[in-house]
Amino acid sequence: MFKKEVYVERRRKLSNHLQKGLVLFLGNTDVPMNYPSNIYHWRQDSTFLYFYGLDYQNMAAVMDLDNGNEYLFGNDVSLGDIIWMGPQITTEEKASLCGVSNHLPFARLHDTVKEAVKQGRTIHFLPPYRAENKILLEELTGIKPGAQKEKASVDLIKAVVALRSIKDDNEIQELEKAMETAWIMHTTAMKMAKPGVYEREIAGAIEGIALAAGGMLSFPAIVTVRGETLHNHYHGNKLKENDLLLVDTGAETAMRYASDHTRTTPVGGKFTPRQKDIYEAVLEAQLKAIEAIKPGVTNLSVHLLAAATLTDRLKEIGLMKGDTSSAVEQGAHALFMPHGLGHMMGLDVHDMEDLGENYVGYNDEIKRSDIFGTAFLRLGRKYEPGFVLTIEPGCYFIPALIDQWQSEGRFKEFINYEKVNEYRDFGGIRIEDDILVTDSGHKVMGRPIPRSIEEVEQIAATA
Ligand code: GLY
Ligand code: MN
Repeated sequence: MFKKEVYVERRRKLSNHLQKGLVLFLGNTDVPMNYPSNIYHWRQDSTFLYFYGLDYQNMAAVMDLDNGNEYLFGNDVSLGDIIWMGPQITTEEKASLCGVSNHLPFARLHDTVKEAVKQGRTIHFLPPYRAENKILLEELTGIKPGAQKEKASVDLIKAVVALRSIKDDNEIQELEKAMETAWIMHTTAMKMAKPGVYEREIAGAIEGIALAAGGMLSFPAIVTVRGETLHNHYHGNKLKENDLLLVDTGAETAMRYASDHTRTTPVGGKFTPRQKDIYEAVLEAQLKAIEAIKPGVTNLSVHLLAAATLTDRLKEIGLMKGDTSSAVEQGAHALFMPHGLGHMMGLDVHDMEDLGENYVGYNDEIKRSDIFGTAFLRLGRKYEPGFVLTIEPGCYFIPALIDQWQSEGRFKEFINYEKVNEYRDFGGIRIEDDILVTDSGHKVMGRPIPRSIEEVEQIAATA
């Protein structure tokens, strides 16, 4: 945990954003996997961590905006629990760690919220994403799970997004720890990309590094020679010479801050000429995008800059043709890059996605596009100092998408389908780094992971 003053100050700032009523925060509980006592990996809710720092099950908190009182709800454990779990700190001690003055047994949450509901007071809550909290919220407020997203407090969502979007120095230091683990994970994977190795061996090594560093993975690792499937979690392929191994993985620190990087490595240590051309196109798109990052610039414009750079290079290779800006404006490049350029990152790898992507990434000034490809961009709005985000362009040859677009004659004026079909077995390339927006520009976070053709070939050839 950070010092208690950090959490007190965050909650003070939050209360300045809101007018009246109760603010309700639900922590997470353990969730059974296949029988009640065999549980999924424990993960606290990120907003609960942000305001209270308490990485424990079965807690909730209330801020009463009308009288300034704060309450932490939780149960002290029984002797039976201590026998199985070891000694646990008390709810009183937990409250003291985050500077909350009142602590109550968990059951008192029910009277507290129900009484406020009866009095017609506003209850600010965030959209719950776990079934357990949806059920609890229904018990507390009477609002059915299906209506909870719509009834969640927009004022609270906007206030939380405003605070969590700007990373302070404590958070940047934590994120840098995740970056260091990421460096070890990725350089290990790159060295392991040898013919005869199974994807699962590399996936296992990566996960072990995250655990050994005191945290875990920030999301299930993507370790695949079929990189054209964007979120490919199958790890059963055996690597062979001239495959491209795409590894998209991140670490989460003990305090739950994330990293998220992607590297694509030629199995056997040498890119083929065709792989080199596409790799260089993606790398140029990434470098140009990163270079453009500074406060006041929109991530939407940087996404479109990356798309135009990729289009220009694909035109040189003969895969695309026509006017670059018209192609990008209409979304023709999305055959090759059907995803957004990146997303916010922090306590979540896709930071605050549970609160609603449009609240995090868009505002009255920058609206989400509805064009295929650009519509998947999670962050469109202007950068501000303290934002941390990923820049992750890619180029993929997805046979099902090629077939569909070709059969529709879609964007024939921009896509050379005859040439594209020669690449059906190519796979995919993505290159991803994590960027901090500074007062005057940007900083690529962490120790540089090999990225140029020369650097990647060198490490891939290392024993
Ligand atoms: N790194 C996986 C993703 O950003 O979706
Ligand atoms: Mn990412």
